[in-house]
Amino acid sequence: MQFINFKTAQAASEYVAKQMVQLVKTNPNASFGLATGSTPILLYEALAKDYQANQTNWSQIKTFNLDEYLNLPLDHPQTYHVFMNQHLFSKININLDQTYFPQLDQNYDYLIDSLGGIDLQILGIGTNGHIGFNEPGSALDSLTRVVDLTQETINVNANKFFDGNTDLVPKQAISMGISSILKAKKIILLAFGQSKKAVVKTLKSITKFDINFPASALILHPDVTIISDDEANE
Ligand code: PGA
Repeated sequence: MQFINFKTAQAASEYVAKQMVQLVKTNPNASFGLATGSTPILLYEALAKDYQANQTNWSQIKTFNLDEYLNLPLDHPQTYHVFMNQHLFSKININLDQTYFPQLDQNYDYLIDSLGGIDLQILGIGTNGHIGFNEPGSALDSLTRVVDLTQETINVNANKFFDGNTDLVPKQAISMGISSILKAKKIILLAFGQSKKAVVKTLKSITKFDINFPASALILHPDVTIISDDEANE
């Protein structure tokens, strides 16, 4: 695992946006694995800005989102469908028919494989070490499946996105598994802000997979970059 630190989340996001734009330019059919949450918002802003300035052509790009809540109508403001439309898809010329989300009654892993796999997977990380909604206890060989959110994740997401009301946060989601994530050719994990300091420290000390810290699985992948800002980095 390679670690790169930037002074600010803004600078870090611009760096990652540049890498994504470069991939779009060199491989117009590339596919991205995408994350939601507060962390990638600046990255998506930078991609939207690039599109405005340079009309980078996203028309053949495929995207696969990591996860989606269950039991929220798809037009609910807190679904990841709405999040992606709001922060990225409405800002670039992507073909919405090529933007995929995990769904019930669908073999998402087969779909990803059959469409050529993921070239670059963007990840955030939870304060409990989750990637996607792979909470502690997720198996290394897990694929896309229905998952129960931990109380910690429900509390964090309530505070960030549901006005602090844990009753409003769905208790289940459908998430790519650890094994699904590790199949990407390249992985970039973003960790910004004070609240991620402990997990960045843990990531630096990882030597093997620890089922209680799902992001530790990244140690098994040959091309992972952890991008932090000063606040998340000691
Ligand atoms: P955050 O969430 O970007 O809102 O911190 C990350 C995650 O839970 O994976």
